[in-house]
Amino acid sequence: MPPTVVAIDGPAGAGKSTIARALAKDLGMAYLDTGAMYRGVTYEVLRRGLEATDIDAVARVAREVRFVQTADSLHVNGVDATAAIRSPEVDAAVSHVASNSAVREELRERQREWIVRHGGGVVEGRDIGSVVFPEATLKVYLIASPRVRAERRVAQHGGDVQEIATAIAERDRRDSTREDSPLRQMPDAVVVDTSDRTILEVVREIGGILKTRIVSS
Ligand code: DC
Repeated sequence: MPPTVVAIDGPAGAGKSTIARALAKDLGMAYLDTGAMYRGVTYEVLRRGLEATDIDAVARVAREVRFVQTADSLHVNGVDATAAIRSPEVDAAVSHVASNSAVREELRERQREWIVRHGGGVVEGRDIGSVVFPEATLKVYLIASPRVRAERRVAQHGGDVQEIATAIAERDRRDSTREDSPLRQMPDAVVVDTSDRTILEVVREIGGILKTRIVSS
């Protein structure tokens, strides 16, 4: 039996982290936030004073960097970067790092090793169901209205709703138009709109679908 993998993809602010973390807890499965890995590379790139657009230098950082990641923390080369990877500087630079194919290749390998080590898990990102785990047990594509997505970011980090909405739209555009592993909805993914629903409702729905998949396989 292959390990159970739940792939959760979708644009920024659709509720991926909240839902994936709650779902993993509910199912007693491990949880991996792959966006935190792209953010961790970006954090280290900026800390070293490198340009996020310097393809070779950024690729080297991705290959060298050591991560210790739990469900709610990330240490980068021994430094707790949990808060710093959510800074506006990292937000602004991360899509350049995420469009670097050598970085993607390195992180993809680490994500696959993580699943082997944990014997399965709930994995959240942009290319999980499409590229990293195309054979995932269940693929979920989360969406939410632009208003709700901007409001969620503001509730978490503060700021102006209109400005955040513009920044989210720009990041979506870059994430879904990049050449390597763009954000896209797979035909075999279950689409769940989280706009006007509670975390519990969404977690129950996904958990229910997963159970039927496991029973029928
Ligand atoms: O989910 P997030 O906002 O933490 O993701 C940070 C960035 O990393 C985002 O711009 C998209 C990118 N990313 C990616 O390209 N592939 C993934 N599997 C996860 C995130």
